[in-house]
Amino acid sequence: MATVTMTSQEKVREAFKARFGAAPHLVARAPGRVNLIGEHTDYNGGFVFPMAISRAAYVAIGPAEGSQTTVQSVQFRETDAFPAGDLERTGTWRDYVRGVVAIAAKLGLEARPCNLLVDGDVPLGSGLSSSAALEVATFTALNAYNGWGLPALDIAKLSQRAENDFVGVNCGIMDQLVSVFGEEDCALFVDCRSLEFRPIPLHLAENGVQVAILDSEVPRTLATGGYNQRRQECEEGVALLAQALGRDLDALRDVSEAEFAAHAQVLPMPIRARVRHVVSENARVLRAATFLAAGDVTAFGELMDQSHDSLRDDYEVSCEELDLLVSLARNTQGVLGARLTGAGFGGCAVALVRSEALPALQAALDGYMRQTGLTPAIWLCNAASGASVSPIS
Ligand code: GLA
Repeated sequence: MATVTMTSQEKVREAFKARFGAAPHLVARAPGRVNLIGEHTDYNGGFVFPMAISRAAYVAIGPAEGSQTTVQSVQFRETDAFPAGDLERTGTWRDYVRGVVAIAAKLGLEARPCNLLVDGDVPLGSGLSSSAALEVATFTALNAYNGWGLPALDIAKLSQRAENDFVGVNCGIMDQLVSVFGEEDCALFVDCRSLEFRPIPLHLAENGVQVAILDSEVPRTLATGGYNQRRQECEEGVALLAQALGRDLDALRDVSEAEFAAHAQVLPMPIRARVRHVVSENARVLRAATFLAAGDVTAFGELMDQSHDSLRDDYEVSCEELDLLVSLARNTQGVLGARLTGAGFGGCAVALVRSEALPALQAALDGYMRQTGLTPAIWLCNAASGASVSPIS
């Protein structure tokens, strides 16, 4: 007998019906992401090169009776309910939905009271942007349901604002942008200052390689980590270099490698090391995108390795477990490059692997289990498309 499996969207629709007693009007989907290279460059006005992944957040929406909005989380088995008006932070998953509702209200976008059911399969707290996916899916659902007609770029920017102003994490635009604009089989080369982006085909099959996500199983929390502190150190670097260079600087994006080398001594540690990471990482992203477009996966992998070393030594956002995972991967023949991905402080690494080397990589990860007692998950992923809406007929 043939097995009929439900898609994630269908599951969410059914869960909505079971919870609220009627079918939703629509289901919005927004993917998580893995960043191939370009870490901690987005809030420095620089370049990033992420791809959306097939794991996503889903938000089903339908009308509510009365004046309350009710949110049911399938993953947390918890409910949130609030009236229109001032919303308070809770320090929980609720803030990603509340934050979007609050930002929309601030802009005068009128939201009808509604029922929302949220679910997803982006692992939480692993550096694959489960929070951005939930914000973008919520914004996409509210936008379609209320007929706001917001352009896609606004959804990315406002989702980032929800995270900055409501959740309290001063993140850049990368995660929300790729969750909205990701394209199948492509990574997005993004200029985070102009917000211009270019999808670059990955040609993984033609190149005989795969993108593997390696989960260290060490949870990370952006808000309590050193993320906001790193941002501040970069701003201090901008101020000191502007003085030394004798010109206005908006962001570290405006500092070339040669300028950094000539003026590095005006920067105290650890600011000097932070700036060295950002300046060199921007240069790596530019080269990496060119290598990939030319099909030079070996050179691309080498830049991934350099990126990790710089994040470990200069930006200091790695941890022992991530370093171990990355070094086990790199010591496997056929692994072209490996690095931590996302903010760091735990979470996932990403590796570029020749397809025939996957069993060897899997075997190498046994060493991780032996040394840490943690079981690293490994996922092969293809680049997925960005946020979408499925109306319910
Ligand atoms: C997190 C943030 C992004 C970006 C990365 C680091 O994912 O949300 O804006 O700064 O960290 O590259």
